[in-house]
Amino acid sequence: MTIQMTTADAGLKGVTAERFLSAVSDREPVSGLTHTFYRYPARFSPAFARTAIELFTDAGDLVFDGFMGGATSLVEARVLGRKSIGTDVSELAAFVGRVKTTSLSDCDLERIAKWGNSLSETLNLHHTASRARKWISEGYQRNINTFETWRIRKSLELALSRINELETMAQQEFARCALLNCGQWALDCRTTIPTSREFRVKLQSIFTEMIAGAREYARVAQQVDTLCIHRSVIGVEKDVTIAAQGAPRLILLSPPYPGVYVLYHRWKVQGRRETPAPFWIANSLDGSGMAYYTLGDRKQQKLRRYFAEIKQAFTSLAKVANDDSWVVQMVGFSNPSWQLPKYLKTLEQAGLTEIKFSDLANSRDGRLWRNVPNRKWFAAYQHTAQSTAREVVLFHKLLR
Ligand SMILES: C[S@@+](CC[C@H](N)C(=O)[O-])C[C@H]1O[C@@H](n2cnc3c(N)ncnc32)[C@H](O)[C@@H]1O
Repeated sequence: MTIQMTTADAGLKGVTAERFLSAVSDREPVSGLTHTFYRYPARFSPAFARTAIELFTDAGDLVFDGFMGGATSLVEARVLGRKSIGTDVSELAAFVGRVKTTSLSDCDLERIAKWGNSLSETLNLHHTASRARKWISEGYQRNINTFETWRIRKSLELALSRINELETMAQQEFARCALLNCGQWALDCRTTIPTSREFRVKLQSIFTEMIAGAREYARVAQQVDTLCIHRSVIGVEKDVTIAAQGAPRLILLSPPYPGVYVLYHRWKVQGRRETPAPFWIANSLDGSGMAYYTLGDRKQQKLRRYFAEIKQAFTSLAKVANDDSWVVQMVGFSNPSWQLPKYLKTLEQAGLTEIKFSDLANSRDGRLWRNVPNRKWFAAYQHTAQSTAREVVLFHKLLR
């Protein structure tokens, strides 16, 4: 079942339809606040998250992102004075979310800046690094010890060996996040690996940029509860911490896309080699393989596990929602012709009804689609993949 209405019919007046439409097609590079702390794969545009929160909630309401990733929605919620909860199966996402949503004092940021400046001395490859033996034995430094990459690995190791000089956990996690950011810049999807000097210079500019972003965030972040929880969205209705917050007014999310290849938990080093090093840098543990992060294997016939898990996830979300809750999501498909109907059917089975807003539509199917700039989906079945990646914004409410 689908219900057709306008945003005015639904009493939504936080932003105009024009503003929402333009936020959905936003192509500006991600910037501002803490959004640049880490390039989380397939993240929302902050403008989309902000505008959705403004349209569907009021100050003091609760926003819930069940597939939090880099916590874009939580950062925007906090700035807009909305409480928020994010869940993610990835410990790396919970780490990034915590760092991005924590408001640090001037004193903390000065301490971090001083520590960051002192690293130039430390990152000298002639110094002996204390090796991260436990992480190495568990494979977390896989594929970063080649002739081209060992200098970056050693620079990271030299910096991490001084993390304990920072007094608080929040300061240490911020510093780890700066190293994570720089490690991603140096290693992920690059053909040429930078020199250790280039790494040092970049790290200084990352500290400067992150500290400026953290100051801006601390200035505008409001005093509202923000929780980043490392757990699956499946079963959230039984989580007492989450239940204690009451029903969310807005469930804003972007689940892994059916059949679409996105590597959330690894960096790709020198071609096809993957490394779990981000977990080592973030002091976090990896899950078990790609399917753990993507709701199943994208090559599985008919994506059975994907749709079974989507059903469980949205059944749980429907249980934490109430009649006033909205579910707004951005989702893409490697083959929309069969996957979109199946996806909608699955949501209906989970207890949700699709709402089509006539003033928020830009396509003949009455929905709001966007082209994803500079991206093609890497689909499991390349012959069925769309030549240009497209995403759709879906709106749902509880089925009554
Ligand atoms: C498309 S990303 C979300 C990006 C996010 N909107 C942002 O702005 O950064 C999807 C996320 O879902 C997470 N995920 C996958 N299965 C999950 C599950 N069962 N419960 C919670 N999170 C899950 C993945 O680890 C990944 O971080």
